[in-house]
Amino acid sequence: MKPSSSSSSSSSSSLLFHAVTTLLIIIISSSLPPSSHGHGAYDPAKPCKRLVLYFHDLLFHGGDEPFNATSATVANATKLGNSTNFGKLIVFDDPMTKDAHLLSTPVARAQGFYFYDMKSAFNAWFAYTLVFNSTEHQGTINVMGADTISSPTRDLSVVGGTGDFFMARGIATFRTDALLGDYYFRLEMDIKLYECY
Ligand SMILES: *[C@@H]1O[C@H](CO)[C@@H](O)[C@H](O)[C@H]1NC(C)=O
Ligand SMILES: *[C@@H]1O[C@H](CO)[C@@H](O)[C@H](O)[C@H]1NC(C)=O
Ligand SMILES: *[C@@H]1O[C@H](CO)[C@@H](O)[C@H](O)[C@H]1NC(C)=O
Ligand SMILES: *[C@@H]1O[C@H](CO)[C@@H](O)[C@H](O)[C@H]1NC(C)=O
Repeated sequence: MKPSSSSSSSSSSSLLFHAVTTLLIIIISSSLPPSSHGHGAYDPAKPCKRLVLYFHDLLFHGGDEPFNATSATVANATKLGNSTNFGKLIVFDDPMTKDAHLLSTPVARAQGFYFYDMKSAFNAWFAYTLVFNSTEHQGTINVMGADTISSPTRDLSVVGGTGDFFMARGIATFRTDALLGDYYFRLEMDIKLYECY
């Protein structure tokens, strides 16, 4: 049986429709950003770059400290709050090392500040730049966010970067690794980037 001309044209036009739709889907999906950049598509377990570094904060005490201080109080705590240092502001130029040893050769410097901003508990707000200037890494990573000191780990935002870390975005997880009075503390910073270029 010979198909009627009308049914033949309808089947070829539906074939054409199918081809055009497929082509459109291919064009649209290839023009979308990769799924790792899409909203909600980040897998916390799969950063595109990860750095675990130690932050050593050596507080200046007027020159009598047994080390070369790298951070200093620029505004004292206020009387507001309950001895939680509310209002105290510290500026730092701290060494970052690959292991927990203070005297290891720094791989970057952490330059910025933190201040205490909670009346009822110790809580700080950090904003700083990790400055890398070595044969391994050149560039910066910018971090900011709340450090709820009593939590075992705290997530801060990696809000940007330059050089080797161009347009970086991710999470810096803090963990207190050592605390010696008000002279020294060490934080482990587990930096996970989810946008890498
Ligand atoms: C402090 O720094 C100076 C100059 O770099 C160095 O000679 C000295 O040994 C350092 N002192 C301590 C206690 O690290
Ligand atoms: C903060 O208070 C201490 C102790 O009262 C004082 O020695 C220091 O100079 C003050 N620092 C600032 C920046 O006001
Ligand atoms: C201040 O801290 C002390 C000791 O931690 C606590 O007993 C007291 O209830 C606190 N007071 C206020 C007003 O938060
Ligand atoms: C980076 O390191 C080089 C070589 O040690 C030095 O000349 C340069 O001043 C450093 N740059 C910064 C921004 O520290």
